[in-house]
Amino acid sequence: MAGDKKKRGLLNGLTHYGDPGFAAYLRRSFARSMGYSEEMLNRPIVGITWTASGFNNCHRGVPQLVEAAKRGVLAAGALPLEFPVTSLGEVFLNPTSLLYRNLMAMDVEEMVRAQPMDSVLLVGGCDKTLPALVMGGISAGKPAVVLATGPMSTGRYHGERLGACTDCRRFWAQYRAGGLDDQQIGEIEGNLATTQGTCAVMGTASTMAILCEALGLMLPGGAAVPAVHADRLRQAEASGLRAAQLAMEGRGGDLAFDRIIDAKAAENALRVLLAISGSTNAVVHLAAIFGRLGLALDMDLLNRLSDETPVLVDLKPTGAHYMEDLHAAGGVPAVLRALRPQLHLDVMTVTGKTLGEVLDESDPWVDTAVVRTPDNPISPQGGLVALSGSLAPKGAILKRAAATPELFEREGRAVVFTSLEDLSARIDDPDLDVTADDFLVLQNAGPLASGMPEAGYLPIPAKLARAGVKDMVRISDARMSGTAFGTIVLHVSPEAALGSPLGLVRNGDRIRLSVKERRLDLLVDEAELAARRAAFAPPPGVGAERGWRRLWRDHVLQAEDGVDLDLLRGA
Ligand code: FES
Repeated sequence: MAGDKKKRGLLNGLTHYGDPGFAAYLRRSFARSMGYSEEMLNRPIVGITWTASGFNNCHRGVPQLVEAAKRGVLAAGALPLEFPVTSLGEVFLNPTSLLYRNLMAMDVEEMVRAQPMDSVLLVGGCDKTLPALVMGGISAGKPAVVLATGPMSTGRYHGERLGACTDCRRFWAQYRAGGLDDQQIGEIEGNLATTQGTCAVMGTASTMAILCEALGLMLPGGAAVPAVHADRLRQAEASGLRAAQLAMEGRGGDLAFDRIIDAKAAENALRVLLAISGSTNAVVHLAAIFGRLGLALDMDLLNRLSDETPVLVDLKPTGAHYMEDLHAAGGVPAVLRALRPQLHLDVMTVTGKTLGEVLDESDPWVDTAVVRTPDNPISPQGGLVALSGSLAPKGAILKRAAATPELFEREGRAVVFTSLEDLSARIDDPDLDVTADDFLVLQNAGPLASGMPEAGYLPIPAKLARAGVKDMVRISDARMSGTAFGTIVLHVSPEAALGSPLGLVRNGDRIRLSVKERRLDLLVDEAELAARRAAFAPPPGVGAERGWRRLWRDHVLQAEDGVDLDLLRGA
């Protein structure tokens, strides 16, 4: 009989028909129509997110991963049931994937909560996917384990090793500057992304996978195993098994994400982000993840940690290697061991062990060409710095590790583009009044105006690129791909569309950047700014009148709050 079973597994969270006995009977009857045995239906249930999609190349391996994860769940004595959630393929989404991260997080939260699963395996990888899965997982409050799809392997072009997507940008810059012809760029296009998996460098996907491992949300070693490696399937099997144990142990609630991520774990994540010279996007995603728990991402703390945390991982775009090399070099456990004296080791992980215990058990081997020792770092300081000042009252971010130090202490003339359309219409205009010493400023690419696309990597104007200019100071309220590089100030907050100082900048204004002082200032007097403010007219928002985009318009927060929706923050 259905009514006398313990309330776990299939009988969790019954559908409301006004008669729980009937609801249980009906659910079991319909579940049996799927061919499961009585013994299977009496097991605890592990939900597995299905994020495969014809619009997501990075998730091509998800079906195999789910199959392997199911083996692990079954071996542990639970029942695996996959369920679809939103899938975000970075380069297939218009206008930008960040606009849909919170939608995916809501989808995950609600489907994990609404369906009768005792724990969940969160499978994903492409840029916004892991943040969305973690955000949703936190808010759903059920025990969970993260499984990354893993990074792509590298390809070759004329003997040179290529990996998406730092090399995509390098070759495109050469093409723009006239150094490659159409046929060559076409051949390169065919060799940049040659396997399933996420971008092969320290982009956002790699960064977020590493941070999930550092936060203890993933099994040890799970971030860097290549997508096509047999170890990736073993990782999936082990992750399924662990998710099943959490469903069965009775202590799963102790190991739900909201219990694992505390202030100490959050500080560890920032520390690791700096040591790996990770993507600037991770600052936004971590702020959103922490915000789900009532924690703030403290920019002063980020700067303090940045000053005392060495960069240890030598990966592109700032270094020489690829994610597959990090795996071969010892993976994330090797990075965490190198950072050990600077980490909180008593934080909990989904393994049920503390971070310190996990590291004690890890293979001590490391290839120090890829994961440096603290006494021989790539840089004695972290890769990111937070800026503030009169142009960015609520902050901005610069990836100094990917920037040109000669441009760090500069005053320049603003060359302003008022929108993405304005940028693409004029950046290559031969008559554009611009020199290499100017600061390129892009407005209205922030969360509210444009969904905060990865447009902060403003191209060098064609006439300057052809003259050999490789980098300029570029400032915007946009984001930048973690695979990009340059002296690029991002996430300026508040965004221009709110009539902030960034929205008031005009061509010819003077701007001062000082990385040493962590300052970004607009050198325009207050009376002039007040006059511009009085005349300010906001641009039209994103879509806006209905559906998801209206919810976004009405509730989206700024970069310092992770661009989450205000109504999704908190526990
Ligand atoms: Fe999916 Fe880069 S496009 S991680």
